[in-house]
Amino acid sequence: MAVSIAPGSDGASSSQTEPVAVPVVTRAVVHSRYGGDGSLRVGEHVIDRLEHDEVLVRVHATSVNPADWYGVEGFALARFGNGLRSPKDPRVGIDLAGRVVAVGDAVTRARVGDDVFGTGTGAWAELAVAREERLARKPAGVSFEDAAAMPVAAITALQAVRDHGRVESGARVLVNGASGGVGPFAVQLARWLGAEVTAVCSTANVETARSLGARQVVDYRQEDFCALGERYDVLIDVAGCRPFRSFRRVLTRNARVVLVGAPMTAAGLGPLPHLVATKLSGALRRRSVAFFVAKVNATDLDLLGRLLEEGTIRVVTGRRFEGLEEVPDALRHLGEGHAGGKIAVRL
Ligand SMILES: NC(=O)c1ccc[n+]([C@@H]2O[C@H](COP(=O)([O-])OP(=O)(O)OC[C@H]3O[C@@H](n4cnc5c(N)ncnc54)[C@H](OP(=O)(O)O)[C@@H]3O)[C@@H](O)[C@H]2O)c1
Repeated sequence: MAVSIAPGSDGASSSQTEPVAVPVVTRAVVHSRYGGDGSLRVGEHVIDRLEHDEVLVRVHATSVNPADWYGVEGFALARFGNGLRSPKDPRVGIDLAGRVVAVGDAVTRARVGDDVFGTGTGAWAELAVAREERLARKPAGVSFEDAAAMPVAAITALQAVRDHGRVESGARVLVNGASGGVGPFAVQLARWLGAEVTAVCSTANVETARSLGARQVVDYRQEDFCALGERYDVLIDVAGCRPFRSFRRVLTRNARVVLVGAPMTAAGLGPLPHLVATKLSGALRRRSVAFFVAKVNATDLDLLGRLLEEGTIRVVTGRRFEGLEEVPDALRHLGEGHAGGKIAVRL
């Protein structure tokens, strides 16, 4: 259902705080073919309506995630959702933080003028549409960049350690891949739940991982955590770079393995073979292996916003980019696989 707020205003000319009437044209990063960051360009698209539960956000900051990378590359599963030969929907980008400039007629919590963060459709844009249930109020003390860095990565980390890892106080937790987007949140959230955390990352990120509260940090370029003789109750595998059999010597009797990701490749079936092989190997050995797809929701975003505002967690930012024009560079940087934290894009 289209909504109309403040008739006569439009996205291009209204100030940062004014309401916007839908339909509206927005500047945005778009793609009309698959094939990596070179297939992206800054163009325009029309937001012609808001559904009842949708909100229009003027985006102040966004980020890039592996899910964006897969969608832009044209990974097989992404093509099933968005067109086999070329993308039917040109919009790209998921994470956003910004100000609400219009609301659908069934929206109950968000109001025009609220600062929010969460996930939307076509977040690499000046204006983006988001469902209210995937947004939370941005705490006043949190920057738009930090807020935009959180939704996918921090929700994934939270659901990995709390819901799938069922991390409890005193648990011994290992986070493999502790230095990218998801990993630093996983380390901090496991600590918040009272765990004793071992972080695995490359040399350049060892000090940062330690500063997040990891009791032990393993530099995977120097040492193999599977050969250190330590055992863990929960193994959060963000990097997904090891076959399950190599975990044999590091798991306690009732350990849980939470598989978050796999090395990024869009060739063939992408990360799927690793995910399926790990699940099967775990099942054959009667081990608890969980793979999940994170569900972005307002309750978890609220919690993460509070934890960030009170300083219990912080955002580890890798490189910062500025403006829609730099989004392809940000995506290319992510695709290189060693971003050293969350990539922030300020609009
Ligand atoms: N299941 C879900 O719902 C969900 C949601 C979000 C993301 N994911 C997946 O989670 C994965 C990580 O996402 P992200 O945003 O954190 O990506 P990212 O920022 O690229 O982080 C990748 C991490 O892997 C580490 N790494 C690379 N090679 C390694 C190795 N040989 N040993 C140990 N660690 C290694 C990197 O460490 P260094 O930089 O120190 O080398 C970095 O910490 C991706 O596969 C993504 O698709 C899944």
